[in-house]
Amino acid sequence: MRYGVIGLGAIAPFFLEAVERCPESTLTAVCDLDPARTQPLADEGTPAFTDYRELLAAGVCDAVIITLPNHLHAEVAIAALEDGVAVCCEKPLAITSADARRMAETADRTGTTLFTAFHRRYNRHLIGLREALPADRSQITRLTVRYNENILEHIGGDRWYLDAERCGGGCLIDNGPNALDMAHALVGGLSVTGVRLGDVRSGIEYVAELDLVSEDGVPVRVELDWALSTGEVKDVVAELADGTVLRADMLEGFTAFKSSLQHEYDGILADFRSQVAAGRASCGTGVEIVGLVEDAYAVGRAESGRRRSKLPTPTRMVRLLFHTSDDRGMTLSQWGTRCIPAGEIHELVTTTDRPRAAGDRIDAVGFLGFVEFQEGTVVAVGDEVRLADGRLIGTVAGFDECHFPNHYNIVIESDRLWTATSAGLEPLDEVRFAEGGAVARP
Ligand SMILES: NC(=O)c1ccc[n+]([C@@H]2O[C@H](COP(=O)([O-])OP(=O)(O)OC[C@H]3O[C@@H](n4cnc5c(N)ncnc54)[C@H](O)[C@@H]3O)[C@@H](O)[C@H]2O)c1
Repeated sequence: MRYGVIGLGAIAPFFLEAVERCPESTLTAVCDLDPARTQPLADEGTPAFTDYRELLAAGVCDAVIITLPNHLHAEVAIAALEDGVAVCCEKPLAITSADARRMAETADRTGTTLFTAFHRRYNRHLIGLREALPADRSQITRLTVRYNENILEHIGGDRWYLDAERCGGGCLIDNGPNALDMAHALVGGLSVTGVRLGDVRSGIEYVAELDLVSEDGVPVRVELDWALSTGEVKDVVAELADGTVLRADMLEGFTAFKSSLQHEYDGILADFRSQVAAGRASCGTGVEIVGLVEDAYAVGRAESGRRRSKLPTPTRMVRLLFHTSDDRGMTLSQWGTRCIPAGEIHELVTTTDRPRAAGDRIDAVGFLGFVEFQEGTVVAVGDEVRLADGRLIGTVAGFDECHFPNHYNIVIESDRLWTATSAGLEPLDEVRFAEGGAVARP
């Protein structure tokens, strides 16, 4: 099979190496917006493109592997399928189920394979657990899948993962598909019964906890965390009716970072080739998993709407500030929340930078002034900050401690730099801090 790989970022090398290891597979084209990424392969004679349409028009591929940011999967896959080129697409197949269904319909209409690369289902420990589970799945009293990591250790040069529009959300849409597919591989079809989304910043959730139930009634818990300080936990625990507990650690024996991926991506390629050889069009759980993720967001949004954990905090501005700076050099502290006793005064700073990790620098800033919290509260990353007339200033990105213990700079992420002038603030005006809204999805 002649392969084109579209998107040469962090995950593509695992596909490129799997293609190289497979005697029946040849790399015949690569594509990336950034020519520097294709250059090493072009130097070895592989045709290289910066536009996927030109790659398809060259007619040198039987199949394409799509390793692009999530929001591009649907467009590129549909174009390839329309040309009769088989598609192996990274997870999630798409950001919305409407797009995933359009992709599957195109595959079915053109009789061309559309396959989602869920690499964990080929992990040898997952396969071992599947074989060890009782054939009567109703003997499983609980299945728990954990997928915990620090997203900043996994992203490539581009920070699209931290952009709700291009990623589609946070840990739920990123790691949810692999975790849900693992559960599906063990206990079959699932439906969502409850979801809690947490630590939401700029429309991206860093924590998600999902309750699901299988068609056989097995309760499944999926725990997702994007904000471990470092390292990763990717495992499954199955509790059985007779008290036995079986655990599969996806990373056991794979000590180097991402080293389990080698055998998993070999598994993807072999399965993809067999689906193409069998002439299957839309196949696997890709569309179903996009639907589950979408259901989980809907439930999570509804639940977080119902369960406010704090009320807006009464405040008043005690000193206004009117200036901006483009090289302020603040630093995001490690704290996601700060307890503020009644009567404390802190500084409000707006920024158009997008600080995410402890130590990130904050340069573009606009100053609103100093606010007194009239009641004790907990200010948290993701809290919305509004003027008394309801206008949204932005969401709390974190805290800079350069003036602590005198006060914190409460850093508010916004699409513009606000000052007391542009906000129309007067001394003693109120600025409202309230728990952040639910995840905004495109
Ligand atoms: N990184 C991982 O560990 C991992 C694991 C499993 C799945 N995935 C999935 O793989 C996909 C890619 O993730 P990644 O981490 O490799 O991302 P990445 O940002 O490292 O790589 C994406 C590449 O696509 C290129 N690109 C962007 N827009 C393009 C366009 N219009 N045309 C051509 N090239 C374009 C970028 O230049 C970049 O090289 C995502 O869907 C992700 O969910 C990633």
